[in-house]
This record gives sequence, structure tokens and C-alpha cells, in this order.
Amino acid sequence: MAKSYKNFIAGEWVAAEGGASYENRNPADHGDQIGTFAASGPGDVDRAIASALEGFRMWSRVPAPRRGEALKRAGDIMTEKKEELADGMTREMGKPLVETRGDVQEAIDTAYYAASEGRRLFSHTAPSELPDKAGFVLRRPAGVFGIVTPWNFPIAVPSWKIFPALLCGNAVVWKPAQDTPWSAVQFVEILVEAGVPPKAVQLVTGFGSEAGAPLVADERITGVSFTGSTEVGCRIAGVCGANGKRVSLEMGGKNAQLVMDDADLELALEGVLWGAFGTTGQRCTATSRLVLHDRIHDELVGLLVERASKLRLGDGRKKDTEVGPLVNEDAREKVETYVRIGQEEGATLRAGGRRPEGLDEGWFYEPTIFTGVTPSMRIAQEEIFGPVLSVLRVGSLDEGLEVVNGVRYGLSSSIYTRDVSRAFRAIDRIEAGITYVNGPTIGAEAHFPFGGVKDTGNGHREGGWPVYEFFTDMKTVYVDYSGRLQRAQIDTWSPQ
Ligand code: UN1
Repeated sequence: MAKSYKNFIAGEWVAAEGGASYENRNPADHGDQIGTFAASGPGDVDRAIASALEGFRMWSRVPAPRRGEALKRAGDIMTEKKEELADGMTREMGKPLVETRGDVQEAIDTAYYAASEGRRLFSHTAPSELPDKAGFVLRRPAGVFGIVTPWNFPIAVPSWKIFPALLCGNAVVWKPAQDTPWSAVQFVEILVEAGVPPKAVQLVTGFGSEAGAPLVADERITGVSFTGSTEVGCRIAGVCGANGKRVSLEMGGKNAQLVMDDADLELALEGVLWGAFGTTGQRCTATSRLVLHDRIHDELVGLLVERASKLRLGDGRKKDTEVGPLVNEDAREKVETYVRIGQEEGATLRAGGRRPEGLDEGWFYEPTIFTGVTPSMRIAQEEIFGPVLSVLRVGSLDEGLEVVNGVRYGLSSSIYTRDVSRAFRAIDRIEAGITYVNGPTIGAEAHFPFGGVKDTGNGHREGGWPVYEFFTDMKTVYVDYSGRLQRAQIDTWSPQ
């Protein structure tokens, strides 16, 4: 019998109302059932929010440095449990152990950063325009936040949201992706063990339509932090906008690696293999377009096709595996649809383009490379979220930058060149939230702002310091110690 996991509401592990549940399976092996999980509905969300409001009242009064200490302990516990967590995460969503270890490490880094922010939460002060008067700004806890997260980074991405939200004194109601509820249960257990008061964290697992929708539409929440598709994110933003709630969105990408004719080709090759096929291409930062200067196009494509075809596919828990499965059947079907589209559009399939032999028990698909892709093709424009790389050919830096920028998204980007002027021109002109020079499009660090422009986001950032602005309210304080009425903009000061 597979283990049955529950929601965490009002400080207790409880089944969904009416006992509704769903099963979750290992994407590398359909026969391996991880467990059954609560399929939450509006009633569960309602109770979770009510309890989070109580949690907020209590937690928001704890001094920020003390809140930080609990998060520091969460980081310590994750450090101890890193191997166990990584193993379960790989079993749940498929990426190789080396990557799930990295996922946990990103959360540990985020915990320690958040803990240190407990002794900062800096804000502004400025001189008053009137004598004997002071002005300064406080950062205040803001309320209850709805947290909606994806499965591709089952612990790291939630940590980017939940740690800062908690550090700032808020409570959270978390609806994790339906594909990674086990990881979510572990994360909440760690928070509680670390000393975060139970009511400050509520977990409702299940599906977007039944659990996510009532959460983001609830009048009692202060705002929503979401990572996922542009389509869902914009729908959430519509609901939040109508209700006057704040919302932070991290959405799609169509990230490009641009390789100039003066680049170190070995380095560019290693970069694109990791950027395009790491996490089976299922990162919002994944390299899904490779833009090559004409002069090095054929050579790099030759090397790339050879290396990509040799990547070892398999169960991510096996030692030699380099590329795991896709997360579920729908994800693989989406990839297959785009491979058909690419062929119909006239691109040349140079590697992959099929399910691998002998791996029928999981949602595997071969690393796939299309050449002869032109900027307007759908495989050059739309997010596929799988191991499919579109190669485009350009004749100059200007043309390359135009191609890189010619999509609706703007998350990550990369240029390989040895020419510092070209590098800086690219930094200046690429429309993206992140640009790497001589590195792949993936691999953001926890203490730098993370997020994108255009249809990737709505101006907010995660990681680093800006996320603490999203999760706090500012209070501007004026203290007049002159002992008389001083009217701003009317009473002017002049030397006696
Ligand atoms: C994501 O795919 O949603 O920069 C996040 C990276 C990782 C985070 C990716 N640190 O690739």
C-alpha cells in the first residue's frame, strides 16, 4: 500500500474534505507509486486561509532577527537531509540526483540569505524639509500570501518565495504543483521542525482548478507569488488585479545562447549541452534556442549533434544518468507535438526526435536538435519545456541580437565571445532579466535578483534583496519634535 499524505492546515496534518485524494507516480517508472496526496478543494483552502490569518497575527510580532533564526535552522535541517530529500525529489519529478542535490542547495542558500536579512530589512531615511522633524520608512509584515509553485524545482522555487515571505513576518498558504506534493510535504515538515509556528505555514496539495483558483481569488489574502506558465500567470494576475491584490509572476521563457565566431567553441558546446538538456530542458531558464554565427555554425552543430546523441538517458537515481524523463505524459506529448510542428515547418531534425528504445517504463524522450530554424517558426517562438533545441544561423552580432530579442519572452540569455566590446553590447541590448557572458542560460544564484522582462514577468524579482520589497508593506513615519504646527509645503524655513 502506498503511503497517504495529507494537507497541513491549522497546525495539523489533515485529509482533504471528503477524503479526496490523488496518486503520484515516478516519471521514470510508472509502476512506482510514490503515494496518495490530498486533492484539496475550496473548503480546505478556506480553512487554511482562516488559520493563516491567526498565524500572521502571532508571527508578525516576532522580531525579524528571531524569525531569521528559525529559517537558519530550516537551512541546517535541509543540509542534514540533503541526500534523502534529493532522492525523493528525483523519484518524484525525474531529474538526476546531481540536480536535485543542487535544488536543495539552492534552498539552503536561500534560507541562509533570508536568515541574514532578518538583521537588515533595510529601508530608507531622508532629511525632512522642515526643522525639528524626522522622516523614515519601516518595512512591515503584510499579511497572508498565496504561494503557487511549479514542479521543476520542487524545493528551490518554493524556498525563493516562502523563506522571504516568512522572514518578513507574513503567513503563507502554499499550493504546490500537483506533480511534486511529496517534496512539498517534506519542506513544510522542515519548516515546522525548525520552529516556524505551524499556523504561519499552510499546505494545500492538489490541482490548480480546485485548490489554486479559490486561493488566488480569496479576498483575505494580501497577494500571490506565482511561478509557472504565462497563460496561468496572466489569469492569476487578472483575478488579483480585479481584487486589488499584489502579484509577483515568473512565467515563460524562450532563452537563447548566442555564439559568436570568436568564441571558445568547446566552452560554448559544454554550455549549450547543459543549458538545453539539463533538467531535460524543463527549466524556465533552459536554452531552447542556439543562435550561431555563420562562420562557426557547421562546426559547432557537428560537435553538438555528436555529444547530444551520446547523453545517457535513464532513471535519475542511477549513477550514470545524465538526462532524466519528462515529468508526465502530457509533457512528453507536448514535446512530440512540437517535434512534428518543427518538421512540418521545414526545420531539419539533426538529433533525437523520438522516444528512446528500452525505456518504456518512463516518460523519456531523446535530446532533440533542429537546425535550419528561422526566427518566425513556432519552434523558435513558443516555449516547449522539454529537450528540444532550435538552432538559428546569423551573419553578425546585430543580426544575432535581433534574433535573440525577437520573441515575446525575456528571462535568461547568454553570449559566448572573447571580445569585450561584443560582450558589453550584448549586455546592453539583450531584452532579458538575466544575461550570462561565456556561461549557459541556466544557473542563477540565490542572492541575485531573478526574473524576466516582457511576457516573462510583471516587473518583480525573486532572489536577492528585491523580493523583500514584494513581501513587506512600507510605513512612512514623520516625527515632528518642534512643538508647533509645521505645515509641509506651506511653512518655509528661512535663516534668521
Ligand atoms: C526555474 O526554472 O524555474 O537559474 C528556475 C536556474 C535555476 C533556477 C531555475 N537556478 O536555472
